[in-house]
Amino acid sequence: MVVLLTGGAGYIGSHTCLELLKQGYDVISVDNYCNASPEALRRVRELSGRDVKEYRLDLRDKQALRRVFEENKIDACVHFAGLKAVGESVSKPLDYYDNNLISTINLLELMAQFDVRNLVFSSSATVYGRADTMPLDESLKTWCYSPYGWTKFMIEQILRDAAFANQALSVVLLRYFNPVGAHPSGRIGEDPLGIPNNLIPFVTKVAIGELPKLVIYGNDYNTPDGTCRRDYIHVCDLAKGHVDAIRYCDSHTGCEAINLGTGVPYSVLEIVNSFMRVNQVDVPYSIGPRRPGDVDECWASTEKARRLLGWKAEKGLDDMMRDAWRWQQLNPKGYHG
Ligand code: NAD
Ligand code: UFG
Repeated sequence: MVVLLTGGAGYIGSHTCLELLKQGYDVISVDNYCNASPEALRRVRELSGRDVKEYRLDLRDKQALRRVFEENKIDACVHFAGLKAVGESVSKPLDYYDNNLISTINLLELMAQFDVRNLVFSSSATVYGRADTMPLDESLKTWCYSPYGWTKFMIEQILRDAAFANQALSVVLLRYFNPVGAHPSGRIGEDPLGIPNNLIPFVTKVAIGELPKLVIYGNDYNTPDGTCRRDYIHVCDLAKGHVDAIRYCDSHTGCEAINLGTGVPYSVLEIVNSFMRVNQVDVPYSIGPRRPGDVDECWASTEKARRLLGWKAEKGLDDMMRDAWRWQQLNPKGYHG
């Protein structure tokens, strides 16, 4: 089976690529490298001992994308490609709507023209907005608070409509919670440009001495220790969820939203303390003001993923912390070292 990954060189794409190769799939990656390095796929080839066909192109260039469909017989697509920084999306909303929506529409049109019927989409827990009933289950009403979030919300709706109009289409909307960690080899991982926005890459850069200290954004939330709680999920568990979702698509039609999380929340303080304990390294921190837009807590209901995909996260917090630190130590400058 041939799987096309859009954004295949990115953080989640490269881990999924490796898992697909391991499970015997053939993989094609399309990426414009706006937030990735070709080195990631070079290392995926090295780890798997297999080849990945690679196209450097922007998904908004429909003619270029058409050639990928002309040159390959594709059985399924996993659509990772997109801009993903919540804060940046507030200051550059049009970039986010242009990149994320046009890319998706081009991909869908070409899938229809070339009769490709299976699609897995990278959605996000951000579509649950400020829901206050935990755990978050897929039947809850969705709503967003950033242009980035709205692109996920809109794409989910576009895909539901497309699957309704074309009864042969099978779509899985995977709503990721907080993907963290890296492949245990330490060869592939998350390589953010500049100062990271997300907690774990920030923590690893403080631990290695590249940043002076972590600021914890608020300790007056309505949570047991006052810091925000999130559902962190190991990126290798997430990658396996995509393979299960492709298998599910292949034997069903319609459109399903499915959470990928562990169902267990950890607070920012618990994360920092566990990182220091597991890795025996210090992470200086202070408590700062709240970051605008953060919700107190959020975690996934994992029942639907278990029921439909037979998927369940296997790795725990210690694995996430250990693997994130190994990646940072072995690649102090990411893929550009
Ligand atoms: P990433 O930035 O590492 O990967 C996205 C990839 O898409 C990059 O390699 C980038 O170069 C590529 N890309 C972007 N626009 C493109 C375009 N127009 N044409 C071709 N390639 C393009 O991000 P990631 O963390 O791997 O996330 C993958 C997907 O999962 C994204 O859609 C993201 O919104 C979603 N998601 C991520 C998280 C997270 O915390 N990492 C959480 C929820 C959802
Ligand atoms: N945090 C800090 N200090 C930092 C960075 C983060 O205290 O320097 C805290 C945040 O306030 C939050 C927690 O750590 O409480 C996690 O923050 P992240 O930025 O790592 O993750 P978010 O939960 O804010 O965001 C994630 C994804 C988004 C997605 C969002 C909603 O990165 O793509 O979940 O589901 F939109």
